[in-house]
Amino acid sequence: MRKKIIAGNWKMNKVLSEADQFVTAVSDKVPNSDKVEAIVCAPFPYLSALVEKTKGTSLKVSAQNMHFEENGAFTGEVSPVMLKDIGVSHVVLGHSERREYFAETDETVNKKTHTAFKHGLTPIVCVGETLEQREANETEGLVETQVKKALDGLSDEQITQTIIAYEPVWAIGTGKTASSEDANKVCAHIRNVIKEVASESVAEKVIIQYGGSVKPANVDELLAQSDIDGALVGGASLEADSFLQLVEAGA
Ligand code: G3P
Repeated sequence: MRKKIIAGNWKMNKVLSEADQFVTAVSDKVPNSDKVEAIVCAPFPYLSALVEKTKGTSLKVSAQNMHFEENGAFTGEVSPVMLKDIGVSHVVLGHSERREYFAETDETVNKKTHTAFKHGLTPIVCVGETLEQREANETEGLVETQVKKALDGLSDEQITQTIIAYEPVWAIGTGKTASSEDANKVCAHIRNVIKEVASESVAEKVIIQYGGSVKPANVDELLAQSDIDGALVGGASLEADSFLQLVEAGA
């Protein structure tokens, strides 16, 4: 039985005092359990403080992006070496907002995924279609390509450790949640793609999250689906009470 991973993607929100208050309210309420894992994906400036503050708790801290190079003339960028050095455990890669606004591609996502493993960071790789692609019945083909390119060159063990987040772009921040059946159908397709590129054993172990307007009112139905192993949550993860409800739903 795969555990459920609930990750809150704060995006570009909160000031340090709010981040600190959130973790104070949440960290000691996250169960130390093999059934559910809770992660906060915080903005870069807060990561070091939140790692320190969550030591000894079950709440994990993730970055929302990183560069694929380890150091160099990349003004404004953050390297995997820096994230590992401050104790970050996960990194979100290929979020649709980075693909849309910051020229993230399947190729850079693959480079970042390799670099994440090289530095002991667990990647949360985001895939998902736009409304136009869904309406053109291109969803499964698009997601298949994104998954295959992201995982290209990884070992079976690395693929097993990779978290995939299926986030239909048209459901992000819109209040429109994919139906649990539709979300599960795409997640099952992702699992079949992993079976093809690796093996059935690997595919059965990979954690596949759903993201896109997840909230306490719909999380139970989503997590009850056969191929949905958690959620990558934006808006509903910003408040401590709401985030804890999502974590409790996974427990
Ligand atoms: O990464 C998660 C995010 O894209 C989903 O946002 O606000 O629709 O939960 P939201």
